[in-house]
Amino acid sequence: MDAQVNMHTDKKALDWANLGFQYQRTDFRFTANWENGSWNEGRLTDSECIVVHEGAPALHYAQQCFEGMKAQTAADGRVLLFRPELNSERMNLAASRLLMPEVPQELFFRGVEEAVRANYSWIPPYGSGASLYIRPMLIGVGENLGLKPAQQFEFRVFVSPVGPYYKQAGLSVISLAVSEVDRAAPNGTGSFKVGANYAGGLLATKLAQELGANEALYLDSAEGRYIDEAGSANILIVSKEGVLLTPKSNAILPSITRRSIMILAEDELQMPTEERAIDLRAEFPTFQEAAACGTAAVLSPIGKIWFDGQWHDVGDAGSVVGPVMQKLYDLLIGIQKGELQDNHGWLHAVSI
Ligand code: PLP
Ligand code: COI
Repeated sequence: MDAQVNMHTDKKALDWANLGFQYQRTDFRFTANWENGSWNEGRLTDSECIVVHEGAPALHYAQQCFEGMKAQTAADGRVLLFRPELNSERMNLAASRLLMPEVPQELFFRGVEEAVRANYSWIPPYGSGASLYIRPMLIGVGENLGLKPAQQFEFRVFVSPVGPYYKQAGLSVISLAVSEVDRAAPNGTGSFKVGANYAGGLLATKLAQELGANEALYLDSAEGRYIDEAGSANILIVSKEGVLLTPKSNAILPSITRRSIMILAEDELQMPTEERAIDLRAEFPTFQEAAACGTAAVLSPIGKIWFDGQWHDVGDAGSVVGPVMQKLYDLLIGIQKGELQDNHGWLHAVSI
């Protein structure tokens, strides 16, 4: 370890309640390297900069993937992760897709836990409304020019205290604009959390924001008809018949938040759920409520959607948080903060 970790029990003097979703430098990050077929032990470092070769495949050919997770402080002081084994699993799916070595679950957990623990003073306190965002990443480093996989890799985990992803605090209504540009090809990398998907989406986000939307909504790229997902979140719909719908598509990220909310709707609200192709234009009149969901987005109700040259209000009241989304939000964050019973064994406490 080249960084001296002093465990502070004090918290930083941040205005926790007013944090946005921005990078905040914290004291330590975890880094491990892969070379000659194996991972080293890894260590904490205090440098937020990575020195890589100018020929690194991560820089030229986007041979990289990442994850997004959050740690929350519970009322009793526990520091809670939400279903971290699914982030580990998803990172390894992306690694395999891009011909990168898998990060063993033990290394993934150790990296995440060490980065969280070493930055204890940066973990937002209980009740602040903020959380510690955790960004594990895997990048192809070393020298390379031709199009072939890297021979060396770095697994890194950094953390940053964050507030809400969309500007408004708490549960507030957002708007999406259907994108004219595609995010992912039907048999491409859309279902993997790889940076290349996001680079291609930057223009879509910009165009959506020029229309006054929070972000882009992608339709399937084969027909431009079925809902895929938003730029940084999956989509949930409550139909007028009271069914919780979510798009089935092999071009979207399998959101851990969405998978969890579908289970909560069934188990806690006794709602029928369906994962199926959803034709935006044909089915829009049957939408009662809609939301975007993800680690950063949490659950953000969608008030209106721009498509075919105009805004369309979702359900009866475009700017009001619907009752089902409110209940699902309360259930989700109640569990994540340790306020509600964790019936599914989703929480993982970091030993501090
Ligand atoms: N879709 C995209 C494109 C995302 O970037 C994210 C964020 O991670 C999600 C969906 C939501 O996934 P999760 O709930 O696992 O954070
Ligand atoms: C997340 O929700 O963790 C993400 O990775 C989305 C990202 C665009 C902030």
